[in-house]
Amino acid sequence: MALPAPFLEDLRARSPLPELIGRRVRLSRSGRQWKGCCPFHDEKTPSFYVYDDHFHCFGCGAHGDAISFVMQSQGLGFMEAVAQLAAACGLAVPQPSPEAAAAEQTRQDLFSVLDAAAKAFTRKLFLPEGKKALDYLTGRGLTLETIRAFGLGWSGEGRGALMAELGRSGVSPVQAVQAGLLREAGESKYSEFFFNRVMFPISDQRARIVSFGGRTLGDGQPKYLNGPETEIFSKRRALYGLDRARAQLKAHPPIVVEGYMDVIALHQAGFPTAVAPLGTALTEEQLALLWRHAEAPVICFDGDAAGARAAERAIELALPLIGPGRTLAFAALPEGEDPDSLIANGGADAFRRAIAAPEPLFRALFRLVRSRYSEATPEQRAGLRAELEAAARRIGDPGLAREYRRALLDLSFTRRAARPAPPALRQNPAAIAADRPRQLVAVLIHQPLLLHEIEEELATLDLAPWLDGLRAAILQWSEGLPALDSAALIAHLHAVGLAAEVSRALGRVPLPVCPAGADLADARARWREIHGMLVAEPRLKEDVDAARRAFEKTESPELQRRVIALAFARRGAGRGEAEEAPEGLTQGQAATDR
Ligand code: UTP
Ligand code: MN
Repeated sequence: MALPAPFLEDLRARSPLPELIGRRVRLSRSGRQWKGCCPFHDEKTPSFYVYDDHFHCFGCGAHGDAISFVMQSQGLGFMEAVAQLAAACGLAVPQPSPEAAAAEQTRQDLFSVLDAAAKAFTRKLFLPEGKKALDYLTGRGLTLETIRAFGLGWSGEGRGALMAELGRSGVSPVQAVQAGLLREAGESKYSEFFFNRVMFPISDQRARIVSFGGRTLGDGQPKYLNGPETEIFSKRRALYGLDRARAQLKAHPPIVVEGYMDVIALHQAGFPTAVAPLGTALTEEQLALLWRHAEAPVICFDGDAAGARAAERAIELALPLIGPGRTLAFAALPEGEDPDSLIANGGADAFRRAIAAPEPLFRALFRLVRSRYSEATPEQRAGLRAELEAAARRIGDPGLAREYRRALLDLSFTRRAARPAPPALRQNPAAIAADRPRQLVAVLIHQPLLLHEIEEELATLDLAPWLDGLRAAILQWSEGLPALDSAALIAHLHAVGLAAEVSRALGRVPLPVCPAGADLADARARWREIHGMLVAEPRLKEDVDAARRAFEKTESPELQRRVIALAFARRGAGRGEAEEAPEGLTQGQAATDR
């Protein structure tokens, strides 16, 4: 029951903390506050501070006001602590108004109505009439243990059976309507809200059932039906699975997925922090709830267009709300998969890989904005820049907005063509040629989508041991991962202890290789070019020499052009830059058209 705020303020004002706590803990003055040894954990040197209106322990983090001190130190409930403090300072605890008491009673009643309904649904699931539902659930790979843990059930076929059953425990039709289980169908007539559906109880954070979702067994529409908004159920605030996830949220971030079945399949596969909104876009209330438990919840929506749009909406929603300790990360699923199907097809490992290195919000935002521009023209670049700046301005926290602006613009600048290598290095074609294998790995790290096309050439490259290690890690990472993303790859390589190798591979010496975030076509062209040179270079020198000798003999203009083109090719090869050869001959053509 809620007590009036003015009463609580009064109570706190009349219960000075140094005096209250001083009765249990020896306190000494420390400037304007008091300190002592913390009563909530074992310590020899004081790190427990008491201020006028609150206490805080820098050792164990215990924190609170007078009421919570009494609760924590004596193991009392809120109302008991209030009663004790009120008695001590001579205040009377206000009695609830009859209306408030009645409203509270109704809420309590609704919880027990829903609880009774859940029991009825579970019971039916294991009766002959629920057999097809039970078969359906086990057919989708759920164990009996999981089915029981999630309290899944069978609605029955309608026709008043549920009401008859609830009536026996004293539930009135009006209460069943208020609980969202019946709907009125004409004067004193009611019909069941859920029938012929597999039932998923929806609980609040405190594990009290607040509503149900129901799934058809076949292709009936709608596929899922969620209970209506009630006194105790608001879809905007609910997160399916949060009650079960809670205990694990200290160790793992919440994984936000789209569906009931995704949550359940993930729990069964060992990912107990999966939660889902109920068929609506993620709301501000749900974000706030998630941020109460974790700094960076992982958004993991379906690998389809709808999932991508939902992730986009989550980004838009989050921007004004993020702060230094409040952000999101995004895990991409292979095309066409949702978490449930990915686990069914690839096992828990496939999902573990998918969420191993989720993309931070700022990168996801950059990719989203970037996808709207082809960036071929100054106009497009200016548009991109303006939109990135506008996105950063939408961030409410001013310090973070500044950091975002910088990070987003940095990302967009790295999209410019690589600057030429420092002059000293231009002079050293041999070093650059020896560096080719590194360059190839670097391009691949910048655009892993290339892998599908160049796997064979990659496999046959002769690599130094450190590059060989990187190649192996990249190949292993890519297995069964159709959505290959540079940021995810880099994060993965860091995670497997190859951070030093990655920065060496991506180094700009002796020459920068490929812009980060290069699109597939750019990266492909670059890779082919470098690979072509790697293969062709040793032969190219011989070719130039041979062509020159032949030209010196015949002086034909044909041969002269060939010498020039080949020389260009070699020079370009030496620098590793694509340079226009005269008469439209590019080095690539020169190198391969022999
Ligand atoms: P999906 O259709 O992706 O659900 O909808 P799913 O969990 O993958 O379904 P199945 O059982 O594997 O086929 C995602 C979520 O959207 C809501 C539900 O909460 C569902 O879990 N939804 C979906 C509805 O509310 N109504 C619908 O008709 C469909
Ligand atoms: Mn599904």
